[in-house]
Amino acid sequence: MRYRFMTAIIFVAVASMAQAQGTAPAASPKPAPSKNKKALSPVDAKVQALLAKMTLEEKIGQMIQYSPWKSTEDKIKGEIAKDEVGSLLNVYGAKRANEFQKVAVEQSRLHIPLLFGLDVIHGYKTIFPIPLAEDCAWNPALLEKCAHVAAQEASAAGVKWTFAPMVDVSREPRWGRISEGSGEDPALGSVLATARVKGFQGEHLDDPNSIAACAKHFVGYGAPIAGREYNTTDMSEVTLREIHLPPFKAAVEAGVETLMSAFNDLNGVPASGNTHTLRDILKGEWGFKGFVVSDWASVQQLVSHGYAADDKDAAAKGILAGVDMDMQSHVYGDHLAELVKEKKVPLFFIDGAVRRILKVKYDLGLFDNPYADESKEDGLTLTKDNLDLALQEAEQSIVLLKNEKNLLPLSKDVKSIAVIGSLADSKMDPLGSWHCRGEDALDKVSTILSGIKSSVSKDCQVLYAPGVGVTVDSGTDKALSQAVDTAKRAQVAVVVAGETQDMSGEAAARTSIDLPGRQEEMIKAIQATGVPVVLVLMNGRPLTIPWEAEHLPAIVESWFLGTRQGNAVAAVLFGDVNPSGKLVVTFPRNLGQIPIYYAQMNTGRPAVGKEKWESKYIDCPNTPQFPFGFGLSYTQYDYSNLALDSKTLKPSGALKVTVDVKNSGSVAGTEIVQLYIRDLVASITQPVRKLVDFKRVELAPGETKTVEFDLPASKLGFYNEQGKYVLEPGSFNLWVGRDSSDSTLQDSFQLVSK
Ligand code: NOJ
Repeated sequence: MRYRFMTAIIFVAVASMAQAQGTAPAASPKPAPSKNKKALSPVDAKVQALLAKMTLEEKIGQMIQYSPWKSTEDKIKGEIAKDEVGSLLNVYGAKRANEFQKVAVEQSRLHIPLLFGLDVIHGYKTIFPIPLAEDCAWNPALLEKCAHVAAQEASAAGVKWTFAPMVDVSREPRWGRISEGSGEDPALGSVLATARVKGFQGEHLDDPNSIAACAKHFVGYGAPIAGREYNTTDMSEVTLREIHLPPFKAAVEAGVETLMSAFNDLNGVPASGNTHTLRDILKGEWGFKGFVVSDWASVQQLVSHGYAADDKDAAAKGILAGVDMDMQSHVYGDHLAELVKEKKVPLFFIDGAVRRILKVKYDLGLFDNPYADESKEDGLTLTKDNLDLALQEAEQSIVLLKNEKNLLPLSKDVKSIAVIGSLADSKMDPLGSWHCRGEDALDKVSTILSGIKSSVSKDCQVLYAPGVGVTVDSGTDKALSQAVDTAKRAQVAVVVAGETQDMSGEAAARTSIDLPGRQEEMIKAIQATGVPVVLVLMNGRPLTIPWEAEHLPAIVESWFLGTRQGNAVAAVLFGDVNPSGKLVVTFPRNLGQIPIYYAQMNTGRPAVGKEKWESKYIDCPNTPQFPFGFGLSYTQYDYSNLALDSKTLKPSGALKVTVDVKNSGSVAGTEIVQLYIRDLVASITQPVRKLVDFKRVELAPGETKTVEFDLPASKLGFYNEQGKYVLEPGSFNLWVGRDSSDSTLQDSFQLVSK
């Protein structure tokens, strides 16, 4: 049979490669000769002792994860009692989780606790802004706190493992899942991945408030061809290592316990059967000691990819490549035992996977404390502290995109405000597509309409019209004219427009990223009345809004901000909060510019505007609508005195870069100061700019601060075609500024070889 032959070849290749490259110990340590035996850590010793007691079937059981529903629950409980299931997903609530756990701990032969996983993406019940929004705060310390609150709430509900953070770098706004990531930049994404892992996992993983994190989706998932969900990815090894791997590496360095293998095909080898990325890079080069779970049935889907002949072949390819746990596809349960018996999968691959899984269970303290505290979960209400934190994060996530003639902030004494748009009165949409249990606390969600009402003086009349809605089929002429009439009766119109929460997230790719439905038509009609219009966007991806950007006086990007959306937006609209967020992803002018990102290559014919034969369009500028790093404030920041402590830098050295930033306006604010470099000549062409560091600086009116960066030479390298990180001597340009297009302050230096 062809597949048997293929499996055998793969087995021989993987086994010999793993041994040749010394990756076998990382994947599945084989017993070393006794005289060289290193003392096992206490956890490893426990794992080893338990493994020695396990039958093959029990070992495979640990590698299986199911999502039970009513019809399968009893069957799954029966399998748990026989040690045939290691983990469940989508089981939450202390009581419910304990019900399953009791079967594992009390009825099974080995009493191995189950590990409960759930998509706790940006909050469990207290919902924080969607990741793409949260990341616009550029505030890793705050992000860490928010992730920890999510962990506390989830853990109280028996969930000890989140399938987060999603650290896929993406430059593809058609792709709905861009909402769940950190945007387009690998360096920023790495810092934020670290913060989230630390937040979820806490100081000690066995703390009752900590849960295991899962960096996903390994790897390349953020670059689907044509932006279509689950689609193929194709990229060079250099792009893989420079753009897509860094946040995963950062997560591994931060101690992430698990990774998820992705759905996508990567350069012809699906990510859930990819030995190069899973075994060579992750477990070999990086020495990752946790375990890899597949994405939902992604091992079985190796068949649809045309990479495995059938389910059995898929199971073999998944485990040989390094997928330790099979989420929901049943192929490990159905075929691994037979594959081992037929010697198509060596036992040490199974042992290696089980060791990794048991280690995470020990690290989490599950053997000592398998049960959730039911009294704690039952009383899980949203605390004031958690809601305040969610508000703070929401306020910092907002990005002010335009503010002509200081229309914002609005006066609270304005006599009348028209609030237009169904999103303004929605409690569900602020929660985003991954709202976890946020729905249980819908009464706590502040809408933009309620936020505005509670902010204005009691004499102000707040008028509301839902307008034309969001979806393509919504929006009658009557609804449109009601919205216009409402706006006419007010001094200012706040129009809330964008996408509903289900228009981004998983399986929500769009071929147009314009404002959907008749929203733009409605905005134009309101603008034509002469009433000043403030556009508040609610959306999960960059949108193309060229007309609005040109004609409206004020635009606020509020994304989906979670439970406190309305209060956060109102605080910004009325100036209680000075906006400080900066975009983590470029906003294109139109779809044809995609992919558009700041760290592009120069090309051989850069567009300098001298002639036709340049790398440009004939119908649109190359520049984006809003660049990466962009965001306005109610005050003005002046940058001056850029200084480097040296003009040369050795490979082991660091450069001190200083700049003065002055708040020359009349309100306090926080500026996100960004440091970019360009390597001018290299053996692999380098981007025109690369973010290397940033600082958040709080400034009182009139205050100047000297902002200091330490730029180690180690950040100046790049991955070459052999996958090696190299530092090449040569000239570098450097900029410190307010966004990726700011060229006001520039300097240069040399990296020398010694
Ligand atoms: C599929 C998604 O791609 C993944 O991110 C998620 O964690 C799993 N489903 C489990 O819900």
